[in-house]
Amino acid sequence: MTPAHDQAALDARCEDAVARLAPLLGRVSVGLVLGTGLGAVADAVEDKVVVPYADIPGFPENSVSGHAGRIVAGTLAGRRVAVMQGRAHYYETADSAAMRVPLETLRRLGAGTLVLTNAAGSLRPDLAPGRLCLLTDHLNLSGTNPLLGDRGDGRFVSMTDAYDPGLRRAFHAAARASGVDLDEGVYCWVSGPSFETPAEIRMLRILGGDVVGMSTVPEVILARRLGLRVAAVSTVTNFGAGIENASPSHHETKDVAAKAGAALSRLLIAFLGGLDDA
Ligand code: HPA
Repeated sequence: MTPAHDQAALDARCEDAVARLAPLLGRVSVGLVLGTGLGAVADAVEDKVVVPYADIPGFPENSVSGHAGRIVAGTLAGRRVAVMQGRAHYYETADSAAMRVPLETLRRLGAGTLVLTNAAGSLRPDLAPGRLCLLTDHLNLSGTNPLLGDRGDGRFVSMTDAYDPGLRRAFHAAARASGVDLDEGVYCWVSGPSFETPAEIRMLRILGGDVVGMSTVPEVILARRLGLRVAAVSTVTNFGAGIENASPSHHETKDVAAKAGAALSRLLIAFLGGLDDA
């Protein structure tokens, strides 16, 4: 049993986090996790309560610029939401289960639905920077899994329809209603933090990927383990290395994500407004 799956320790940390957050946040119906540079969504939350991760037991320390490291809770499109502005990445912690306590805490606060966002590189010439891509599935190429060391039959989580088909339909309806262009595709999870080589980008494309990034997949696996319904949207911030001579950088990622933030906010607000059973 790895420390990340010591159930008694996990329960204790979740209980501490819930004890800290429940009186401030009340009940939550949807959890959102915002990727690099995508803070605009948090700005749109009404009647905000803001809690820095540093004040919540078991929540990640933030080491990535472009990630605020706080929960912004309140109302968005009439739904009670808890927005995680910043996440723990595998490349920061060497622990792919680092988001287990935050996600379980959201679930214990009442969230049944989790919407994950990220910044990603495109593997397709027709999927240009600035576009939004709804994830339909993923390729886990990290060599690890956040449930390693977990116990019991619940660890054998089905990953068929992990990206909930009903939520995907709701996202496409929201895209039409809000006039936002929404592509869809398969996300490749790589550990990072170095970007891919051009040869790796060619390989990922051959394997069936559409976008590539360093997050989200462990959260999807953990969330499915917890029984949450999951949807995920990538903001394409750059072409993968070698496509159109691209040589990605973190600076470019933050910059393009911030510019696409307004469209993502519109999409998420339309999505939340259209949900009838979150
Ligand atoms: N590769 C991996 N992760 C990323 C990229 C990329 O090109 N862009 C944003 N996150």
